[in-house]
This record gives sequence, C-alpha cells and structure tokens, in this order.
Amino acid sequence: METQVAIVGAGPAGLVLARLLELRGVSSVVLEARSREYVEQRVRAGVLEQRTVDCLDEAGVSERLHEEGMVHHGIELRFGGVGHRIDFNALTGGKSITVYGQQEVVKDLIAARLESELPLLFEVSDVAVDVSRPSVSFTHEGRSVELSCDVIAGCDGFHGVCREAIADVLTVYERVYPFAWLGILARSKPSSEELIYANHARGFALHSMRSPSVTRSYLQCSPDEDLDDWPDARIWEELNARFELDGGFALNEGEIFEKGVTPMRSFVVEPMQHEKLFLAGDAAHIVPPTGAKGMNLAIADVEILASALESFYASGDTSGLESYSEHCLRRVWRVQHFSYFMTSMLHRPDGQDPFEAKLQHAQLEYVCRSEAAAKSLAENYVGLHEV
Ligand code: FAD
Ligand code: DHB
Repeated sequence: METQVAIVGAGPAGLVLARLLELRGVSSVVLEARSREYVEQRVRAGVLEQRTVDCLDEAGVSERLHEEGMVHHGIELRFGGVGHRIDFNALTGGKSITVYGQQEVVKDLIAARLESELPLLFEVSDVAVDVSRPSVSFTHEGRSVELSCDVIAGCDGFHGVCREAIADVLTVYERVYPFAWLGILARSKPSSEELIYANHARGFALHSMRSPSVTRSYLQCSPDEDLDDWPDARIWEELNARFELDGGFALNEGEIFEKGVTPMRSFVVEPMQHEKLFLAGDAAHIVPPTGAKGMNLAIADVEILASALESFYASGDTSGLESYSEHCLRRVWRVQHFSYFMTSMLHRPDGQDPFEAKLQHAQLEYVCRSEAAAKSLAENYVGLHEV
C-alpha cells in the first residue's frame, strides 16, 4: 500500500489533517486502532475556539456545528458565593466560543471522509512506524499490511506508538496534578446560559452543556476516585454545594447517563518532529482540561502541518516542514501556561497551604476587577490567533 501521508490515529488531529490534505490534493491513509462506534461515542471536550470553528468551516464539515453548536460570549467565575462574568465580547473585540461536543466533531469528520471514499481503516492492530524509510506496518482484517509513504503524521494521542518510536531524541516536560475531574452528562436543562467555573472550599466545579436539554458538569476529585462511591444523589449534592450563591442557587437536576474520571497532567515533548515523523495533538502534548484547550491545540498543530505539506508538494519547499516543531511549540507553551494558570487559580489541593489560598483568592479578585487581567484571561480563552 502506498500514500503520501500516513496518518496514525482518527481523533480530531488525524481526521482534520486528513480533510485539510484532501482539500489540498495530497493523498493520505488514516489508521485507527478503535472501532468507528468507539471513537464516535468517546465523550471528551466541548469548547471550540473561534479559530477551530473557522478551520472546520474551511474544511467544509461545520454544517451541523452551526445548527446545533451553542455560541457563548462569556463565562462566569464563581467564588465566595458571588458570580463574576468575564465578557468575551467586550474584552476581545467581539470574539466568542462555540460549545459542541468533540465526538460530534469526530462524527462530522468521519462522515465527510467516508463520503469522499478515501481510506480510513478502523480496528487496525500491531501498528509500528519506521521513521527513516518511512513506512507504517499494521494488521487489518487479519492481513499484515505495509504502508509506504513520504511522511508519517503521529496523531495517535497520548497512549499511541508514534511518540515512543522517537523517544530517544525527545525531551519530556511534565507535571502531574494531585487531583482529577469527575465528569458527568445529565439529561437536564442548563442552569445558566454560560459556563460556570467555581472555586469553592470543597473543590473546583464546572457547569457546562451539550444542548438545551443536556448538561456536562465536572467536580474536582482525587485521581484514584472510585465511581462506585458517587451515586447520582451524591454528585448533585456536591455540585449544588460548590455552585452555591449568596442569594441562593439550585441546579436543574436530571438522569445522569455518563460518568468518568479524567486525570490531569501537563506534558510536552520537544521536538515535535524527527526525520519523517511529525507528532500532532495529544501525541506530543497534554494540557490539564481547565480552559478547554486540548482539542483546540490538536487542531492548531495540524493546520500548521497541512500548510507545510501543501507547500512541500506544490513546490518542493521544505521550510514549513523544517520549522513545524518550533512553530507549533510557541502556541503549545502559551496554552500550557494558560491551562496551568486556570488550573492553579481554580482548584483546591488537599491540605492547601493557607498562604497559597490567599494568593489564589487575590488572583481571582484581580481577574474579576481589573480590565487588563480579565482581558488577558479572555483573549487566551477564546484563543489567540497568532502567538
Ligand atoms: P485523540 O483524540 O486521543 O485521538 C488519538 C486517536 O488515535 C484515538 O482515536 C486512538 O484510538 C488512536 N490510536 C491510539 N493508538 C493508536 C495506534 N497505535 N494506532 C492507531 N490509532 C491509535 N480536553 C478539553 O479541552 N476538555 C475536556 O473536558 C477534555 N476531556 C478529556 C477527557 C479524556 C478522558 C481525555 C483522554 C481527554 C480529554 N480532553 C479534554 C483532551 C482532548 O479530548 C484531547 O486533547 C483531544 O482528543 C486531542 O485530540 P488528538 O486527535 O490529538 O488525540
Ligand atoms: C468543557 C470542558 C472543559 O475542560 C472546559 O474548561 C470547559 C467545558 C466541556 O466539556 O464542556
């Protein structure tokens, strides 16, 4: 089997890259370890930056996103029993975010790929990459296949094989947090028009949504939290306690139909490229979820990779490929800093040092009182165009 670009992984990074290459006349084969049903049901992120929406528009896969996605012009920070709105419209010159589930983005991209009748192989196993030849070998439907290519795009997420294949040349930067998120989906009407990020003595909580009748909420918990200890009634009680307001506040409750625990880490490898292998998305970096950057960052990487490959195939210009890693890493570290900042400002580590608790409170008051500080939060949240 032969192609120009072998793409390992059909998450947002791999699928967006495949689509952008298709529109630029570059051939690709996408290899995915899981089944189509699995990747379409996997519940993850939900906030799209404006530039991600623009990218999906350009890719021609945003029709349902515009019908069903919810455009938000601000968020609320809630602490000390009071809510404070961060007004994106006013602070960023009219920018917004769109709330639309990651698995919906993935469904739309898979549908477009299949409609174009381009290769997207699910349930491949034994995937191994050879970065110097370059090629990818794998098993599909019981047959061993060798795919030779010009370039390999390692879009196989944090637990994939591509990063491992070049581990010898990588420097790892990492921070693991002493807490995690317990995330739920519930059949209940959102209790607020916008997302609420709450800092409370019992821990962080986030109120988000997926549609006018489905809410997505998260609670700070411990990384080894046992879901069996969290019957629905306890989850609602804890969420209500953490979202309390001086004037009173009660969430709209409903049936919880999905629960999971997400660990939190910051992780970056440098460089993001070696020989003919280019890492993109979670294969190269992880951010803690506070601020909703993971999927947006994955898509920003592959936009850069797609234009570098376009120039390479159009005119043999290798400069974009050579500067790929450096170019991506500028945004990666900006976003790492923002996600770390949001995480540190909003979570309460067990046994929090009273000095740090005071600093955290001072920081929260500052972003709510100072226009300059609010503007900095807002421009990072909606997504920086250039870094
Ligand atoms: P992925 O989406 O991980 O896609 C990689 C794909 O590669 C997967 O489909 C995987 O099955 C496949 N794969 C792996 N190994 C192989 C192999 N050997 N061969 C072929 N295919 C392979 N971000 C937020 O902003 N907010 C959130 O609330 C949030 N929640 C999250 C919850 C969880 C449980 C996780 C894991 C992540 C969450 N994220 C969140 C992060 C966000 O979802 C990711 O940043 C985003 O999915 C990155 O996209 P990606 O395409 O790089 O990687
Ligand atoms: C969602 C996830 C996030 O990490 C975040 O900061 C905001 C919203 C969500 O899943 O809706």
